Amino acid sequence: MRTPIMAGNWKMNKTPAEALSFSQALVGRLASWTGKVETVLIPPYVALYPVQGALGRSGLKLGAQDVHHEAKGAYTGAVAADMLVGLVEYVVIGHSETRQYLGVTDAQVNQKARALLAAGLKPIIAMGENLRQNQDGLTELVCQRQIRAAFADIPASALPNIVVAYEPIWAIGTGKNADADFAQRIIGGAIRGTLRELYGDDPAESVRIQYGGSMSPANAEDYLRQPDIDGGLIGGASLKEEDFSKLIEITIKAKGL
Ligand code: PGA
Repeated sequence: MRTPIMAGNWKMNKTPAEALSFSQALVGRLASWTGKVETVLIPPYVALYPVQGALGRSGLKLGAQDVHHEAKGAYTGAVAADMLVGLVEYVVIGHSETRQYLGVTDAQVNQKARALLAAGLKPIIAMGENLRQNQDGLTELVCQRQIRAAFADIPASALPNIVVAYEPIWAIGTGKNADADFAQRIIGGAIRGTLRELYGDDPAESVRIQYGGSMSPANAEDYLRQPDIDGGLIGGASLKEEDFSKLIEITIKAKGL
């Protein structure tokens, strides 16, 4: 069975001091559950070191919000995969906010994924359709295309170290979460199904796939009861100690752990 993975993407929220006290509080609440649910905190870059200190040997994991696709060079403001080694275990790439505001392309998402894997880090590859594509019935097509692009030249042996986050763009930060049956259909069909076509059954089954987009304690159980949904990539609700802890508790219950 795949170990569920819940990741809190804090986006551009919390100063280093706030991040430190928040993660200390979470360690107190969550450390006893980390064997059952992999729990990843993804603070802004400048808070990575203080949060790493707070997590210590708690078992909670650390992630970064993005990485540059090149190995080094004249890219002001950017951070390369090698620079994150020893600091984080996971890195979110392909988030729709980076695709939209920073112009990140499918080809760059693939380059980032390969750079992370080569550095021994684990990508969380975010993807999903926008509102228009959803309304036009293009969700499956968009997801299949994004999966094929993101996994180009990635060997089957790397798949247990890759997490995919299906995040319909229209559901992110809007409070309009996708229907759980719909999410299961896309994740099990267009996403895991495409991985099955590309790699075969066993490698496809080894990839953990999260839902993301307004996941909260009020709706999480519906997603986590779905057979192909292995966790969540959580924005807003990961900023509140109570909500995030509840989400881990709900995961344990929904997966029968
Ligand atoms: P949200 O964000 O939970 O605030 O919708 C999810 C994400 O962007 O990862």
